[in-house]
Amino acid sequence: MASSKLISDTEQWKELKAHVADIKKTHLRDLLCDDARSRAMMVEFDGILLDYSRQQATLETVGKLFKLAEASSLKQKIDRMYNGDHINSTENRSVLHVALRAPRDAVIQSDGKNVVPEVWKVLDKIKEFSERVRSGSWVGATGKQLKDVVAIGIGGSFLGPLFVHTALQTDPEAAESSRGRQLRFLANVDPIDVARNITGLNPETTLVVVVSKTFTTAETMLNARTLREWISSALGPSAVAKHMVAVSTNLTLVEKFGIDPNNAFAFWDWVGGRYSVCSAVGVLPLSLQYGFPVIEKFLKGASSIDQHVRSEPFERNIPVLLGLFSVWNVSFLGYPARAILPYSQALEKLAPHIQQVSMESNGKGVSIDGVPLPFEAGEIDFGEPGTNGQHSFYQLIHQGRVIPCDFIGVVKSQQPVYLKGEVTPEQLQKENVPSHLVAHKTFTGNRPSVSILLPSLNAYNIGQLLAIYEHRVAVQGFIWNINSFDQWGVELGKSLATQVRKQLNASRTKKESIQGFNFSTTSLLTRYLQ
Ligand code: F6P
Repeated sequence: MASSKLISDTEQWKELKAHVADIKKTHLRDLLCDDARSRAMMVEFDGILLDYSRQQATLETVGKLFKLAEASSLKQKIDRMYNGDHINSTENRSVLHVALRAPRDAVIQSDGKNVVPEVWKVLDKIKEFSERVRSGSWVGATGKQLKDVVAIGIGGSFLGPLFVHTALQTDPEAAESSRGRQLRFLANVDPIDVARNITGLNPETTLVVVVSKTFTTAETMLNARTLREWISSALGPSAVAKHMVAVSTNLTLVEKFGIDPNNAFAFWDWVGGRYSVCSAVGVLPLSLQYGFPVIEKFLKGASSIDQHVRSEPFERNIPVLLGLFSVWNVSFLGYPARAILPYSQALEKLAPHIQQVSMESNGKGVSIDGVPLPFEAGEIDFGEPGTNGQHSFYQLIHQGRVIPCDFIGVVKSQQPVYLKGEVTPEQLQKENVPSHLVAHKTFTGNRPSVSILLPSLNAYNIGQLLAIYEHRVAVQGFIWNINSFDQWGVELGKSLATQVRKQLNASRTKKESIQGFNFSTTSLLTRYLQ
């Protein structure tokens, strides 16, 4: 298929469109009676089980989705990503987060250069530095051990590391290795977030890690200046060298800020912010908290899925199947949202992280060639751990809108529930339910979901889960033929915010009136200034 052709113009897309009418005639109740179908819709890899038999789909649907994958050159697009081609064409960059967790002897090229040795150089530096801090051979300005870490960053420089940190809380090895240490995350520009983060911390025993790919993000830089002041006013300006380190692709700005470049941990422009948790962005703060050996297991888990995605036939390829069914639900069945429902409290930050990975990646309105899409791409992701979600928004899922659900269960923890099956008026009448309540208590059922079962929640499995979601989002983008690796909408938001900030400053300092905005914005800004 020529890359400029819209996927919706292909025969394979049109066939699936026509097939929707067949599926609308089916009901999950009946589909689930077919054991051969259910058996075919279960896939296992490296301890992870995917059951997609609760999708509104027949085996014919699956075959048609594979044909769509072929029409969209999915295999070739995955290969192009691993080969370091500049598939992020609007930013002219490779997309190589898979290189961040590749084994030391792997060869992954970007612009003719094997990037794996550079990745391991930084990993080795993190290992050495985190061991020095954890053992007390690197101490603070007053000679005290640094037991607490505040990681400053926002968006991709925050959500992924926070997800992994939260998820690791039930890993006994991680619990043991982090005893007596604290890791906190400072993201929001709201001063309350600073206050909340430094409450109870002593600058003498605190290490601050400034995490920013660009080292220009307004919120992060303001918070970094605030904590630099917190340290230097307590311990003197020279203490900054011992108490502040950085993670960035922009080492020039790191130095300008006053952090010794020797204490900076690099990553590269071929790592997208929302795909950066396996770079120093996540590995440094997490290694300081848990020790490098635990985090290395997390990287290995992600790497196992990277190999699976690349080499497994689509019939048994977990992220590919998940991605194809997301496209089926969004673009063909017309369900715009997806609920992420892990049955483990330790996965409470999975949905917030995947919200960024998915919605910043696939929330696009044009194809990769800039052609407006005649269909909607992307999906609205939200979620909460069960059983909290059950007492919040499940009512809407049971009897209101149809929202495909991801149930994530951990064998060694709670078991996931399934969406309530069908309850018919006839059943209710038999149970002598009063007639005025029958309509209210009826469940039409037929609500699609997938179940992902993890053997346990250790560092390795958390790495696998992260990589499954990252690749699923990429698969969706490859099928829709959009660029899942740029974020021009967010960039526009940043430049609008800069304009507003400039106007507010000019109004405050030079008493100029607010200009250049429409009536509504001008009124709101004027009101704010008053
Ligand atoms: O929120 C938009 C974004 O550009 C994300 O893509 C990125 O993860 C985040 O800002 C933070 O950017 P930086 O790491 O450069 O501070």
